[in-house]
Amino acid sequence: ELKDNTIIVVLGASGDLAKKKTFPALFGLYRQGFLPRDVKIVGYARTKMDKAEFDKRATSYLKNPNDDPQITEAIQTFKSISTYISGNYDEGDDFAKLNDHLKEIEAGYPKPTNGTPHCNRIFYFALPPPEGVKRVIVEKPFGKDLDSARELLSSLKQYWSEDETFRIDHYLGKEMVKNLLVLRFANVAMGAAWDKNHISNVQITFKEPFGTEGRGGYFDEFGMIRDVLQNHLLQVLSILTMERPVSFSAEDIRDEKVKVLRSIPPIAREDTLLGQYVAANGKPGYLDDDTVPHNSVCPTFAATTLWIHNPRWEGVPFILKAGKALNEAKVEVRIQFKDVTQGIFKDIARNELVIRIQPSEAVYLKINAKTPGLITRAMPTEMDLTYKRRFTETKIPEAYEALILDALKGDHSNFVRHDELDVAWKIFTPILHWIDGKDGARPRPVPYPYGSRGPKELDPFISKYGFKRADAS
Ligand code: BG6
Repeated sequence: ELKDNTIIVVLGASGDLAKKKTFPALFGLYRQGFLPRDVKIVGYARTKMDKAEFDKRATSYLKNPNDDPQITEAIQTFKSISTYISGNYDEGDDFAKLNDHLKEIEAGYPKPTNGTPHCNRIFYFALPPPEGVKRVIVEKPFGKDLDSARELLSSLKQYWSEDETFRIDHYLGKEMVKNLLVLRFANVAMGAAWDKNHISNVQITFKEPFGTEGRGGYFDEFGMIRDVLQNHLLQVLSILTMERPVSFSAEDIRDEKVKVLRSIPPIAREDTLLGQYVAANGKPGYLDDDTVPHNSVCPTFAATTLWIHNPRWEGVPFILKAGKALNEAKVEVRIQFKDVTQGIFKDIARNELVIRIQPSEAVYLKINAKTPGLITRAMPTEMDLTYKRRFTETKIPEAYEALILDALKGDHSNFVRHDELDVAWKIFTPILHWIDGKDGARPRPVPYPYGSRGPKELDPFISKYGFKRADAS
């Protein structure tokens, strides 16, 4: 509930609705003490008028049939807390003027003795709908768990249809993520080996070499799983594992994504490893960040293994892992194939298909080939498609460039559909509630040094799911 330092901005303040309904309702609430203390009301509309004229309009529908002096006085104070700014609805400069006005009002609010100063702004859009297409692009986080996401979805749905809504997950705009569908479905050889008979395990890895660095206030409330796994990495997983869509239309693609996601049960605690970075190499630990509570157990590293219960993937572990303050910046998919039939070859490295999403986009396949020369030994080598070497003339677009353009075109293929979001939260909500302490004591993440490869528990965690390091195979 908003108690103080609140400004209510009425856009369309010279219109009929504002005059007849909005201002009388605001006045009624104000007089009865339901509005926050110190509330200020700001009208904004195209009509140029002075304060006296605005007051006349804003109060013309306020009723005081018996000339009650208390109401007369309340109308006077209501006028004194109201101001008016005129401007257009399609002019950045005019909105900047409105913003300056709001800042001026906010500067007049008393400074808190402790805690951060805050001001609340409520915008009431009493505006006619614009001509033409309306679209809204929404950023994550889309809620914190299944219930809050559903609440958010249904409140936005009142104003924006699914067709008008573009929920961004910027990983869907990355060149290599977009390439996954083509690699899988435009190549017979690739498609043929894409199942539990050939693949041993899959890792989807996200590594960042920096910590929360002042962004701890946001991060601590969300943690690594909500920040990256539940959205970016799960999106990559769904494209990697979905069945062939009937067409490349947005709905056909997303139908298949939702179907595969629905085959994934909620993540089990024993399939989860949580870490938090500590000071090392002259860099501060997570808890040294001033914006982070000193006893926080928020994970800055998380590895979780997902299982897909369908005929293609039954039994194949999909390991999603992401961490901040690690030794390098890298996002990649690593598909490790099964051992070759034993007999003539022993202890030979497994094939691995690596799709490097960033930096330096690449697809490479680790294969075994005969060592060139007069010997017959096999050696591991690579078939390598590194973009900057192969496609020297092409500029790889930024993910947001690609997505904003898609939204302008009205193409939803690379945006998150409502049912996709719902099922993504179903997979992650139980583990998140456990981490949040909803089922008892909060689990403690294991420490790892800033700038390291991650917790020392990571290697045993991955090998538990059958991953074999090339040198150990
Ligand atoms: C954001 C996360 O969604 O993705 C950040 O909130 C993260 O914590 C970022 O750093 C990573 O995006 P990119 O494109 O730099 O890999």
